[in-house]
Amino acid sequence: MSNRTTLRDVAKATGVSITTVSLVLNNHPTRVSEEKRELIKRKANELNYVPNQTARSLVTKRSMLLALLVPDIENLFFASLAKEIEDECSADGYSLIIANSNDSKNTERQLLQQFEARNIDGLFLIPSSESTKDSTDLRSEVAQMSCPVVLTDRLVREQWCDAAGSDNYQGGQLAARLFVEAGHTHIACISGRHDNGNAEARKAGFVDELGKNHITIDPQLDCYGAYRFDGGYQTADRILDSGATAVFCCNDLMALGFSKRAEERNLSIPEDISLIGYDNVLNSLGIASNLTTIDQDIPQLAKSCHAYMMNRIKQKASKLSPAPWLNDPQTSLLKPKMIIKGSVRTIK
Ligand code: RIB
Repeated sequence: MSNRTTLRDVAKATGVSITTVSLVLNNHPTRVSEEKRELIKRKANELNYVPNQTARSLVTKRSMLLALLVPDIENLFFASLAKEIEDECSADGYSLIIANSNDSKNTERQLLQQFEARNIDGLFLIPSSESTKDSTDLRSEVAQMSCPVVLTDRLVREQWCDAAGSDNYQGGQLAARLFVEAGHTHIACISGRHDNGNAEARKAGFVDELGKNHITIDPQLDCYGAYRFDGGYQTADRILDSGATAVFCCNDLMALGFSKRAEERNLSIPEDISLIGYDNVLNSLGIASNLTTIDQDIPQLAKSCHAYMMNRIKQKASKLSPAPWLNDPQTSLLKPKMIIKGSVRTIK
């Protein structure tokens, strides 16, 4: 038998009905004196009364639980985004479950099924890389869920639900412009994954902007690092031995791995090679504080996807429209911002 305090215990301690206690603790109107109202709240606090959310959800049909599925929980970008989303949701009384798909489409599918079984009120979803390229399976899995889904950060090509992201193509252009203005023409790139939509968009913006200045990337210097530290570290030697004077890493973790390898070889950034990262998640931690990088405005990204979610939760599913959140989907793309530090050297 649980020894947690119940509504009945609070009612007994204050001499009123269970209904009155419930109405007062839920700030619903009820005919009790202000003095009695304060007594009920004080006693509930003294008895450590915590609402039974499971019982409440049977009445309100709301679990007050939201979920966030990230592709790499070890990546500081997702940790930072999770914190910002959690701050927004808790302000509205929601708790946030965070789960990691490890960038696997199969794990992503299994977790969507587990979330559905937990009666969550909504899901913030950062798709696995594979799903960003072909979201057919993901869309059919989302259509079977009984709660709103909002995509964030990694959007899919087909717009089938609300989505809040950053303009990755523009971010790649910003990196290219900075290298061109600094006089670099022998340039390398370390992208995310071949099948990752936002990594591809970043690289496309980078390559197209270089192309406008008649600069191309040697295929040997067109690398992939899966957005991980060791991806930047493992590809560094090929770039450092090539004579390239600049490298764009499509996220800060790969930039960190690259700079670690350069340091091990007693090569200096930017003196020996200029470096640009992406995400702006290291400077605030005092790591790689010299790294010029591109900021995706994570707090605003969290606000945008949270606003979509609250709006969709208010939409009642009905027989006519069993998944209204799949109707009239909205997309917002935030403008990325270049954060100039000291890792790019002018050579012209
Ligand atoms: O660092 C991980 C990258 O993947 C970030 O740039 C973010 O956009 C995510 O999609």
